[in-house]
Amino acid sequence: MRLTRYFLPVLKETPSEAQIVSHRLMLRAGLIKQASAGIYSWLPLGYKVLKRIETIVHEEQIRAGHIPMLMPTLQSADLWRESGRYDDYGQEMLRITDRHGRDMLYGPTNEELITDIFRTHVSSYKDLPLTLYHIQWKFRDEVRPRFGVMRGREFYMKDGYNFDLTKEDALHAYNRHLVSYLRSYERMGLQAIPMRADGGPIGGDYTHEFLVLAETGESEVFYDSAITDQSFGDRAVDYDSVPECQAVLEEFTSRYARTDETHDEATFNEQVPEERRRVARGIEVGQIFYFGTKYSEAMGATVVTPDGSRVPVHMGSHGIGVSRLLGAIIEASHDDRGIIWPEGVTPFHCGIVNLKQGDEAADAACESLYAALTAKGLEPLYDDRSERAGAKFATMDLIGLPWRITVGPRGLAKGVVELTSRRTGESEDMSPEVAIDRIAQIYA
Ligand SMILES: Nc1ncnc2c1ncn2[C@@H]1O[C@H](COP(=O)(O)OP(=O)(O)O)[C@@H](O)[C@H]1O
Ligand SMILES: [Mg+2]
Repeated sequence: MRLTRYFLPVLKETPSEAQIVSHRLMLRAGLIKQASAGIYSWLPLGYKVLKRIETIVHEEQIRAGHIPMLMPTLQSADLWRESGRYDDYGQEMLRITDRHGRDMLYGPTNEELITDIFRTHVSSYKDLPLTLYHIQWKFRDEVRPRFGVMRGREFYMKDGYNFDLTKEDALHAYNRHLVSYLRSYERMGLQAIPMRADGGPIGGDYTHEFLVLAETGESEVFYDSAITDQSFGDRAVDYDSVPECQAVLEEFTSRYARTDETHDEATFNEQVPEERRRVARGIEVGQIFYFGTKYSEAMGATVVTPDGSRVPVHMGSHGIGVSRLLGAIIEASHDDRGIIWPEGVTPFHCGIVNLKQGDEAADAACESLYAALTAKGLEPLYDDRSERAGAKFATMDLIGLPWRITVGPRGLAKGVVELTSRRTGESEDMSPEVAIDRIAQIYA
């Protein structure tokens, strides 16, 4: 993409309505525009990051054996009356009446709809285990939408639902989700810590929330600092292996880590040596639940067992806040000049800055860098505006591409361009060919 042909409405002033850095940067860097309270348009650059996050989530869910599908945003109220949640959900649910007077709602989540699909088509234990998921817009009429996409009213969420014959099988599904979530967040350059949480309106005894530590987080968290040294890394996990997935769960949840809802001071003090006790804030970027037969019993989602009897299936639901993740990643990765995207989610792989637009050698070098990077399957953003170098650097720093290649007549006279890391600020001169190889290697 060439900047002169792109749509990148960067703001000069800091928007006054934004209280936290990620919201300010998302507005300033032209990622989103508020449409109404808690509802946003995703401008081209923001949309690109949203899609990259979505792709990671899809890839990791599919790797775990979970099956993608798509359910609608609007749902019939009748299904929610069956589960009893139509009244329970309260004012967060956006209720709509269609022209025939039918009660509809904009789905805040999909347990009812998926259970209805399941009971229509599945009736035998032979079709289990089954985990279906989708990534779809949700609506929750939050009293106080704030912090931009972090607490929106309309937001994009991955929600997955497992159906199993027994509690043991359903807990294996729970563990698979935990493993796949750890992998997903790490690919996004994030450390998200599983913490024991509270079931809330979805219900359930087994539930963990995944929290990204950040001062601006809405949840108060209590944890053993040894947890922050743990990382999942690049290990291969066999998702069909019950003991392997269980071992990961134990490794990542045995240390004390809880949100304020489940925090217990006595246990905290007993289990964690004083110098490792931390009280901090975190952003919830996902949650997994096992809730047993709560919905399957209420809605008659049963299967025939090997001995011919009928039992309600064991279920769980598992969510990732896809749109919230943009805010969380920026909270975790920025400096006073702007965003610093991790390579895993960056909207463009690198920027190309032409220091002297109109200079024959500089223009030609930029064009050939652009063509060579594109030929390697990479997406560069070429700042080909006739702007001062300072303004071009400021834009690149604000939008946060992790790598920048700077091209100017003086360097070219010596046969070099400059490769700069957004994160460290370090620059290195090298030939254009070497710069291309380096970028290709980084993303290989
Ligand atoms: N209002 C919101 N705006 C943006 N993301 C949200 C919002 N509510 C929930 N999410 C995201 O969706 C994920 C799954 O939702 P869920 O656990 O049902 O939400 P909650 O914990 O708020 O009840 C959350 O972990 C969070 O990342
Ligand atoms: Mg939650």
